[in-house]
Amino acid sequence: MDASQIPGELTHVLHTEAQIAARLDEVAAQIDADYAGRTPLLVGVLNGALMVMADLSRALTIHCEQDWMAVSSYGAGTQSSGVVRILKDLSGDIEGRDVLIVEDIIDTGLTLAYLIQNLSSRRPASLELMTMFRKPEAFKCPVVPKYVGFDLPDEFVVGYGLDYAGRYRNLRDVGTLSPSVYS
Ligand code: IMP
Repeated sequence: MDASQIPGELTHVLHTEAQIAARLDEVAAQIDADYAGRTPLLVGVLNGALMVMADLSRALTIHCEQDWMAVSSYGAGTQSSGVVRILKDLSGDIEGRDVLIVEDIIDTGLTLAYLIQNLSSRRPASLELMTMFRKPEAFKCPVVPKYVGFDLPDEFVVGYGLDYAGRYRNLRDVGTLSPSVYS
């Protein structure tokens, strides 16, 4: 679906499908150059990174492999606690591999801080991070992505893999959710 098909559910569209595709081509060109002659292992974080993984990997002109992890924060509430449980681990060994984590959005960065620590202990040759979106809060955390699609305002956004209550992941654009949806 696109924004025009859900009238009243978004207050505004931040990035359209076309803008996202154009930015992903630019990021993919950087990754092509940085990993020339190597075959990076792209590690997607389920479920949000599904769209970016699909589009980024196809925009690359170098070979890559893909694997997935699913994690969940411990504790109730909407705030990330930084304590993470692995729901699905990687299918393969990453020792000696050039690993590039592919993430949908960094907010507090707590989930990723845990993931990076966990994956570094498996002795990859290199470990870098690509995130499609980054919120202002992310600048306070030590996790520094090498590749960033777009910086976002500090608002709750949906679309392009990002959900609210399980919905909107299949929205082609990224937009700010209207308060009428959750109030
Ligand atoms: P962090 O540990 O605070 O960086 O949490 C990042 C995770 O929170 C992301 O992978 C998303 O699943 C979720 N998240 C953070 N901000 C948003 C948002 O604006 N919309 C949808 N999900 C979000």
